[in-house]
Amino acid sequence: MPSDLRHLWTLEKERIFLNHGSFGACPEFVIAEQRKWQDLMEQEPVRFFEELMPDVLLKSREALGSFLSCSADDLAFVSNATSGVNTILRSLHFEEGDEILVPNHAYQACRNTIDFVAGRWGAKVVEVALPFPIDSPQTVIELMKSACSERTKLVMIDTVTSPTGLRMPFEELTSFFESRGVEVLLDAAHGIGMIPLNLDELGASYVTSNCHKWLCAPKGSAFLYVRNDKQGKIQPLTISHGHTFPLGDTTRFRHEFDWTGTQDISGWCALPAVIEGMAELVDGGWDAIMQHNHNLAIQGRDLLCQRLGIQQPCPNEMIACISTIKLPGEIPPKEKLHEPDPLHHILSEKYNIQVPVWSWPNPEGRYLRISAQLYNSIEQYELLAEALVIELGLNSD
Ligand SMILES: Cc1ncc(COP(=O)(O)O)c(C=O)c1O
Repeated sequence: MPSDLRHLWTLEKERIFLNHGSFGACPEFVIAEQRKWQDLMEQEPVRFFEELMPDVLLKSREALGSFLSCSADDLAFVSNATSGVNTILRSLHFEEGDEILVPNHAYQACRNTIDFVAGRWGAKVVEVALPFPIDSPQTVIELMKSACSERTKLVMIDTVTSPTGLRMPFEELTSFFESRGVEVLLDAAHGIGMIPLNLDELGASYVTSNCHKWLCAPKGSAFLYVRNDKQGKIQPLTISHGHTFPLGDTTRFRHEFDWTGTQDISGWCALPAVIEGMAELVDGGWDAIMQHNHNLAIQGRDLLCQRLGIQQPCPNEMIACISTIKLPGEIPPKEKLHEPDPLHHILSEKYNIQVPVWSWPNPEGRYLRISAQLYNSIEQYELLAEALVIELGLNSD
């Protein structure tokens, strides 16, 4: 039985779409809102960019600021979290031998950026090996804290890890590292709209998050938060007019980030309507959406674990709205690291289920990750479980 809200999304009717986590998915009203801004842009492009845009984007930053409990002045728009992470890492200066801490569950694209930047400066990347399955957030806290040294300059922490779907104890870690003068770069790609975020209270130096994932905003809408005292040393990836533009009563940070060249900004313009419109879908607004998705992810995870006869890989408090399980059985051999797992293809083609399946050397295992969004229902995880029991050759009793 599909969810009552399923019809609001334009997802293919028969598709069992259990991968909101990768690229999000927009309800129809969000697509219409984005088109409205695109139409306005094309009706009079000069008026749109030169006269309307500054105010429209200010409203969008204000809407985000009140959602995230921070000042709109500390927010800049970027196209995605990868760009947000790159913006920070490629602005910073390191000394030879400085250390950058990163857990082994980090998103590979962001890890690549760390390796690239560290290599340029002669900095050292210290990888913290977190287990999976994992027993408690305390394990993460202890392992991360014990990897901190006098040379640690920056730590990248996920709000929710991509491969292992773990809600990290990022609040406690942020407070620990920042209080020791170590800058925290929070990779909150799975952040806004998935878990409550209070950025002023959190106190991280840098946060980036995708609005196109759990806020259900159009693709290419993400933000970067830079704490006020750090803004002087952060430049956008693209240097543009704002680099030399007379300051007036604003900051270089604003000038540089508010214009990085002509592009389709309709996704950013749509944000106030997205935040408000999504909240209206469910009694209780955003808190209720996050709670609903959290509950459904746990239900789905429990059902899969029970059917596959495996232990839950982490406590419920480490689940937000995605959940990764380690599949039983052998890891299928593959020649190349990025070769797709054939089970993904089988689930897609034979069962019409979209869900990521992959194997990974670190932490080692064959994984499957479910997502839970308002358009999903428990019956969809049942169908996935049935398919897995058959394809993995497990006894269904
Ligand atoms: C933890 C994490 N960081 C960064 C990203 C990159 O997001 P994007 O492709 O929108 O830049 C993802 C995407 O899934 C992610 O899960």
